Amino acid sequence: MTTKLEFTEEVAAATDPIYEKVKGSIPRFEWEMHAPLIAEINRIKKEKNAVILGHNYMVPEIFHGVSDFVGDSLGLSIIARDSDADVIVFCGVHFMAETAKILNPSRTVLIPDPDAGCSLSESITPADVRLMKERYPGVPVVTYVNTPASIKAESDICCTSANAVAVVESLGVDRVIFLPDEYLGRNVANETDVKVITWAGRCIVHEQFTVEEIRAYRAQYPDIEVIAHPECSPEVCAECDFVGSTTAMIDYLDEATSNRVIMITECSMSDNVAEAHPELEFVRPCTICPHMKKITLENTLASLQEMKHEVFVEEEMRLKALRSVERMLEIGRKD
Ligand code: 13P
Ligand code: SF4
Repeated sequence: MTTKLEFTEEVAAATDPIYEKVKGSIPRFEWEMHAPLIAEINRIKKEKNAVILGHNYMVPEIFHGVSDFVGDSLGLSIIARDSDADVIVFCGVHFMAETAKILNPSRTVLIPDPDAGCSLSESITPADVRLMKERYPGVPVVTYVNTPASIKAESDICCTSANAVAVVESLGVDRVIFLPDEYLGRNVANETDVKVITWAGRCIVHEQFTVEEIRAYRAQYPDIEVIAHPECSPEVCAECDFVGSTTAMIDYLDEATSNRVIMITECSMSDNVAEAHPELEFVRPCTICPHMKKITLENTLASLQEMKHEVFVEEEMRLKALRSVERMLEIGRKD
């Protein structure tokens, strides 16, 4: 049964403190459509002992409105591993929810839209990994977490953008196979003496940024500080003042030396942090991740109400993938 959700005085009282955090990016009339959904999600969450993990790329109404924890892939994996909630709703893309299930199989892990994928996840198959291992016998495979469990299961260790260099160097070898993000692999290679053999995977969001674009921003705003994600090309990263994971980019704002910044990454990042940094002016290039944007308040509510869409990982594969993810977590955060 669906009851029509209305913007009542009770809903306003419960959600107005949240609105204070997002009023710079969401007009009031729009908020009055979001607020009843937010109030209902937060009510059901308590009733079902559920926790919502929201990636930094979620829209502000999810990031600030319903997420119990927000962060980058590494941070959210750690929270998922340690969670004792009965239900984990992952507001992010599929590989993130799957990683939560790999780490915490006794919990029910839900994703509001199972089709929220990732171009990197789709860029490689287990057969490709086996082929690379045949071509480079004995060379360890370092796999970005932006991959399905079947790829993690074929790998020696995982990494995220928050610890890729440290993971590569932890192996004590002179060569690694780094899958599947070519740009992240090349960025890692620029920071280590270890030889990095890459794959041709790309993030459809970050591959769009160009050197010309960064130079044009600098020409327009000579004092601007440029902060980028390492899924951008090495040429783009070389033009930037700081490169790091989504959480490292957010943390870097506390040290910004200019009061005008640009975050070379997905659109929602600037919206989500602007309120906490009234001293900063955000120039906002808008490049949307269509996968992340599949997650909405509507399907998050439906996910909790109907306990869908549950994420499963076949046990033998889960155990193999778990080994690679746990090895990464032992290294932790080394931006
Ligand atoms: P982070 O781990 O830096 O949050 O990156 C995840 C991602 O999908 C970036 O595009
Ligand atoms: Fe994948 Fe890129 Fe979207 Fe991140 S932003 S989920 S890497 S497609």
